[in-house]
Amino acid sequence: MHAALLDEAHRAIENKLPERGHDYRLGYHLSPPAGWMNDPNGLVFFRGEYHMFYQHHPYSAQWGPMHWGHAKSRDLVHWEHLPIALAPSEPYDRDGCFSGSAVVADDTLYLIYTGHQWLGETRNDDQIRQVQCLASSADGITFTKHGVVLQTPGDPSIMHWRDPKVWMRDGQWWMALGARQGDDPQLLLYRSADLHHWEYLSCALQGRREQDGYMWECPDIFELDGCDVFLYSPQGLKPTGYDNWNLYQNSYRTGRLDDSGHFNPSGELHELDHGHDFYAAQTLLAPDGRRLLWAWMDMWESPMPSQAQHWCGALSLPRELSRDGDRLRMQPARELVALRQSQTLLQVDEVASASHVLDVQGALLEFELELDLEGSSAERFGLALRCSEDGQERTLLYFDATARRLVLDRQYSGAGVSGVRSVPIAPGQTRIALRVFLDRSSIEVFVDEGAYTLSSRIYPRPDSLLASAFAVNGTGCFGAMSVWRLADLQI
Ligand code: FRU
Repeated sequence: MHAALLDEAHRAIENKLPERGHDYRLGYHLSPPAGWMNDPNGLVFFRGEYHMFYQHHPYSAQWGPMHWGHAKSRDLVHWEHLPIALAPSEPYDRDGCFSGSAVVADDTLYLIYTGHQWLGETRNDDQIRQVQCLASSADGITFTKHGVVLQTPGDPSIMHWRDPKVWMRDGQWWMALGARQGDDPQLLLYRSADLHHWEYLSCALQGRREQDGYMWECPDIFELDGCDVFLYSPQGLKPTGYDNWNLYQNSYRTGRLDDSGHFNPSGELHELDHGHDFYAAQTLLAPDGRRLLWAWMDMWESPMPSQAQHWCGALSLPRELSRDGDRLRMQPARELVALRQSQTLLQVDEVASASHVLDVQGALLEFELELDLEGSSAERFGLALRCSEDGQERTLLYFDATARRLVLDRQYSGAGVSGVRSVPIAPGQTRIALRVFLDRSSIEVFVDEGAYTLSSRIYPRPDSLLASAFAVNGTGCFGAMSVWRLADLQI
């Protein structure tokens, strides 16, 4: 039954490929061959390769009964698509194989995921059943389902209860789940010796709707530089000031997870990325000890113009995490320098109340540059990217001296999307170091060695390829700028 459903899903993808449009296809980010993608799932290193699974609907570019798409890579740069790993096939996961994680035990690859059922009408979130399920694979390609390993809690006020993250701690398997008890969010922990039998351990953290949202999706807990990090995607946070402007957020807190399973936060709640499109991030411990992170580089209920071209959804670039007090830094994985092709060095120096077209064009580019705040008098200055010849389209990244913020403005970025996001620049700061990755329908900005990042989807026309440096009301001072053309791997 499962095998037949996987074959059918595979055929659906094959049939769509000839119709798929290329205007927004990403060159070096992982996206589904056709159909819909959301959360990254089951990041794992297995027999010398990184495996990436993802929430996938192969039958259309809309969210629907969730499958697990699958790809693998040796170097975090080149990805190979593999057959779909999981399809809803059993009574317990009949309406979706929702998000989860992967571990390796005895040289076998295990997937732990949420089986989803609509009990009332499809998409009525008030009548659902969610259970935690196990599947395994000896070859890392074909998976056998082992059924439900954790039944829904007896507490009738818990119905939303999903996204298992499993890891090994002191010789035992631990599982973190996000739950919604009534209207309050919870982080629940379970423990197992063999992945098949689980017992409840603790409510590691209890939230309150007013300040914490109503549900914590996609939890992840890991140790980083001597501290524990609880990473999650809260639903229902209200925007305040410049923060939390996306419909849903991706946030984290640092603290200490004790042996009895209680998470004692020591740091504030922080947003993980400050762009428009970053959700459901998950991490992986690489063999060399680096903590790597990927997120779904989209947002629920956001316009997704590529749907009209029979695909949508993408994962962010892999990022290396490090800790700075109670804040995380995210830097592009070092392997990504392998994407760099030809390099152009630009000496822009000063731009006075004008726009200076750069001697570099393209949809797949990496910029490395500094904005010199000390030498500048401009009210705002920075880069205009993916600009059209007719001046209709542009994506702006600039320092706003009055607000002392670095701003990403996609109000004129092309089809569908709009909006502005920004991050603070400290009062005494004299320069901003930037690394910017452009792909056909995305921009990822790494600020000051990853102290902040802004990741957003943009949908410019394929021929909007110009870039310029600009300054408004005064002089903007640019340091040396390196620009690389990036490889078009068409993954
Ligand atoms: C997060 C999420 C998860 C769920 C999955 C369903 O984006 O809502 O909580 O498992 O997506 O596709």
